[in-house]
Amino acid sequence: MSSDATPEQIAAIKGFWDKNTHLLLSAGAGSGKTFTLIQSVSYGIRKGYAESDIFLITFTRKAAAEMRERLKKNGISTGFAGTIHSLAYKIIRESNPGKKYQIITNPETIFKQLIMEKFSRFSHIPPEYILRALDDVNAHSFLQEYQFHKEKNNALDFEDMVSLVAQMDSSLLKDYQNKIIFIDEYQDTSPDQVAMLKKLNPRKLFAVGDAKQSIYQFRGANLENFFRFNQEFPNSGRLKLTANFRSQKRIVSFANAFIKRSSSADKIRLVATKKKLEKPVIFHSNTSALQENIRMMLGNGTTRTASSTLPATILVRTNYLVKSIETRIREKKLENRFSVMTIHKAKGLEFDHVILFGVSPQFFPHPNGYPEEEDRIFYVAVTRAKEHLEMYAWPDENGKESRFLPVITRFARNQYLSHTTDKKGK
Ligand SMILES: Nc1ncnc2c1ncn2[C@@H]1O[C@H](COP(=O)(O)OP(=O)(O)OP(=O)(O)O)[C@@H](O)[C@H]1O
Ligand SMILES: [Mg+2]
Repeated sequence: MSSDATPEQIAAIKGFWDKNTHLLLSAGAGSGKTFTLIQSVSYGIRKGYAESDIFLITFTRKAAAEMRERLKKNGISTGFAGTIHSLAYKIIRESNPGKKYQIITNPETIFKQLIMEKFSRFSHIPPEYILRALDDVNAHSFLQEYQFHKEKNNALDFEDMVSLVAQMDSSLLKDYQNKIIFIDEYQDTSPDQVAMLKKLNPRKLFAVGDAKQSIYQFRGANLENFFRFNQEFPNSGRLKLTANFRSQKRIVSFANAFIKRSSSADKIRLVATKKKLEKPVIFHSNTSALQENIRMMLGNGTTRTASSTLPATILVRTNYLVKSIETRIREKKLENRFSVMTIHKAKGLEFDHVILFGVSPQFFPHPNGYPEEEDRIFYVAVTRAKEHLEMYAWPDENGKESRFLPVITRFARNQYLSHTTDKKGK
């Protein structure tokens, strides 16, 4: 790895092996948590710990692939590197070979199948549109149907696999117990995942995370796990990191200012190490250029000549926006430089230029989301940007603005951001 670790990072990298049994490293976005985790794996291996005894758990498959790549560059490998779901899957396959389960890798396909069965007379409508049209009550009944489907077919989805491992007899888990486990994004673990970790009874456990980036409550993650780490795993230490290595100073100031007003914030403020003085944050609202961009991206109303390309990563709150923007990109044959993804998918990643598109009441904050979680999702989005952050905000048809608008405009006024708008005084 090219960069040198800082003293506070070294305290964690070495401290884990030399001082602690278990360790929680709690720090803000871009402070090098993942970097520190990898460095610590290398340090342990250099000290002579067996590679096969080290398990590395990441949050996404993409992150796992990146980690394996980084380890390979350092000439090392680990006994396991992947998501907690794939670890559960591996354990079930290897330790329980007699029993056959049908594995659901993509619950969405099952949902679509169930919808198509129930609404066969609407077969001309894509199921995702039907799913969106369902209110919460109907959606809930589909969740039940999904449970029935799984029972009927002896099928397991990834979360089921995790809880199955958590309940397995210890005698079947010998090969996976007493390991040295490193886990990233600990703030998004579910109670079942923590139960699984405890069942694996690690000899040593190094968890890193950021309470301000907990964004999977809607899927069962529980931030309490994070706060309870030292009780759940007695004999554990806790360390912090404060410097941000990812983003330009103004992006960091904006992220700090935004999350400060949220009750889910902890007391850690990030300190930027990059200090360019230009304004890397741009905020567009109510401009004709914006209107044009919205038309281009979403296809509302008449589309005139679209601007050529957007050399950036577009982050959006919902899958619906991903799909509509991707469609427009294809239709307009916009050069495929750039990618579009949900903020959830972008977790842990970083990009030079981020466009946060759709700060609008229909999309962000998500109307059915948990308000505090929506704040954290916004924080995750803005802290992905290294050099430039651009935000696109617009009101709904009744003129109502996103709840995030006041804090953004206040900082625009305070000159932290440059704000483009056609309306005076806005
Ligand atoms: N000591 C350092 N010197 C220089 N660059 C560093 C240092 N530590 C980390 N970085 C760089 O800072 C960036 C952010 O690091 P990393 O992704 O590990 O942060 P993180 O805390 O895991 O972020 P997130 O909360 O988004 O997961 C990376 O580009 C990383 O290489
Ligand atoms: Mg990380």
